[in-house]
Amino acid sequence: MMRQAGRYLPEYREVRQKVSFMELCRSADLATEVSLQPFRRFDPDGVIFFSDILVPVAAMGARVEFGDGGPELPEPVRTSAAIEKLHRFDPASEVPFTGEILSRLKREVGGRAAVLGFCGAPWTLASYLVEGGASRSFAALKTMMGREPGTLRRLLDLLADVASDVLSYQLASGADAVQLFDTWAGELAAEDYREWALPAVARAIAGIRRAQAPVVLYVNGCGHLIEAMAESGADVLSIDWRVPLSDARRRAPGRGLQGNLDPGLLLGEPEEVARRTGAMLEETGGQGHVVNLGHGVLPGSRLECVEAFFDAARRPVRAAALPVTA
Ligand code: CP3
Repeated sequence: MMRQAGRYLPEYREVRQKVSFMELCRSADLATEVSLQPFRRFDPDGVIFFSDILVPVAAMGARVEFGDGGPELPEPVRTSAAIEKLHRFDPASEVPFTGEILSRLKREVGGRAAVLGFCGAPWTLASYLVEGGASRSFAALKTMMGREPGTLRRLLDLLADVASDVLSYQLASGADAVQLFDTWAGELAAEDYREWALPAVARAIAGIRRAQAPVVLYVNGCGHLIEAMAESGADVLSIDWRVPLSDARRRAPGRGLQGNLDPGLLLGEPEEVARRTGAMLEETGGQGHVVNLGHGVLPGSRLECVEAFFDAARRPVRAAALPVTA
């Protein structure tokens, strides 16, 4: 599940009462423990290391704070001079705890479950840096896009190189696969996605030092972008819940798919979660399909519903009409 470790779990909330979110991310002991909490409860095939897409942004020199309303960057980056102050960094010296968490997870679950690394894609990281936090209209970012295209291009190139370095370090530390989260790229029209977010994420993926490790690309609100996402170099496309996976398969032949149950269903009844998870699996026949939610688990999700999701995902499925390599 996306946001597999998090606030819907009572054992996570207990740890969080004692430490701040950033302290939790920086403590190899606590972050490893929290990463293992959903593994112990639900026995998934993948364990995501506990961190946040903004951890590398802080290591680049930006101020990042986590308040109750989500992340805040009190000094938004809106000029060339502000971008010059951000720097590419060596993950082994600036975020060594991320490597430590991944190597411990590999020792704990290796052979039983895949260990998963991740980072934010350039467009989404740029949106936090330029907006200074979450946004509805992305007005500051789109101002830069329209009026200072060269400046935005420089920022995206820097973020792409940071993403490549971070993911390479995660793979070297024990991750079996990595995912890039382009949460806010679905905000772009297809033409602008191809002009801005796609080249940046393609540069990030091309720069990852990896042997065979698969790369997953997630975009929330990707219904109009699936063909373009398939050109990013990602092996697996992670799809939000608004698009049927049979449709995604037709439009991205030969790519693995991940997703895509509406996380909101986990707030409802377990029977409905089981029915809808089964229906989702029939879209792909379970072939070339990493069963997941279409976005992160919401706080307040019912544990009975999460269990129903895992149980339904383990049931055998009928073969789908359309094969992976259609
Ligand atoms: O289990 C996992 O998936 C690993 C942990 C993980 C977190 N953040 C922990 C977290 C992952 C993969 C992320 C990625 C992330 N962070 C994304 C991309 C994925 C997505 O959901 O779109 C984004 C956009 C962020 C930025 C971010 N961090 C936001 C918007 C928030 C607030 C979330 C909210 O619901 O209020 C965070 C904080 C955060 N990151 C929490 C967790 C468990 C909640 C913090 C808490 O304990 O108070």
